[in-house]
Amino acid sequence: MMAVPGPLGRACRGTDTAGTLLGMPRLITPDVRVWESFLAAVDEAADGGRQPITHDFVQFAADLRADEHTPRRLDLVPQSTWWWVDGPGGSPEYLGRISVRHRLTDRLRRLGGHIGYDVRPSRRREGHATAMLAAVLPFAHGLGIDPALITCDATNLASRRVIERNGGIFSDASDGTLRFWVPTG
Ligand SMILES: CC(C)(COP(=O)(O)OP(=O)(O)OC[C@H]1O[C@@H](n2cnc3c(N)ncnc32)[C@H](O)[C@@H]1OP(=O)(O)O)[C@@H](O)C(=O)NCCC(=O)NCCS
Repeated sequence: MMAVPGPLGRACRGTDTAGTLLGMPRLITPDVRVWESFLAAVDEAADGGRQPITHDFVQFAADLRADEHTPRRLDLVPQSTWWWVDGPGGSPEYLGRISVRHRLTDRLRRLGGHIGYDVRPSRRREGHATAMLAAVLPFAHGLGIDPALITCDATNLASRRVIERNGGIFSDASDGTLRFWVPTG
């Protein structure tokens, strides 16, 4: 498994060799070795009724990595995805995921923005989303995104806090969606 090669081929904040050895939370590109805890996280989110992953996990992880260059649907822009994992390098545990869309469409401008994330239910309120977003901002910057647009539901206090803790400046709201600009540099 490669710890944070990412699209720019450089380490991201808070992710270094020591972190990997000590098992500190870090970003990795989608990797099949995380399958067990990833599926457990899917179970948690589905409240016991797992949403089927319609193809095998090796392909699933490969598809996510390929989306960075070749989106599977014509209406999607290139998107880089990382998984936020904890534990030793050889057997990491899945905590959450974060994706950076390389450019905005009219639709993403309204809803979705540049960056989307979630944390598995059993590991929320531990600061992971805040740390994960901070870790990914340099990658967004390297893609020429600055500032990054991040949106959340007006009722999503946790996500709003994550954005604001990362320097997000409120832009506007419509149809129950808040928009923020987050500096990446
Ligand atoms: C939103 C989400 C990513 C937050 O993840 P998290 O790891 O729990 O967030 P953090 O632990 O970094 O918490 C960030 C802040 O939100 C606060 N917070 C967390 N959950 C909260 C909740 N349910 N209600 C109110 N505040 C909450 C935390 O106390 C923290 O505040 P602080 O910085 O003042 O201490 C997570 O709840 C999630 O995955 N939700 C479902 C998917 C989603 O909404 N994604 C975002 C789409 S825009």
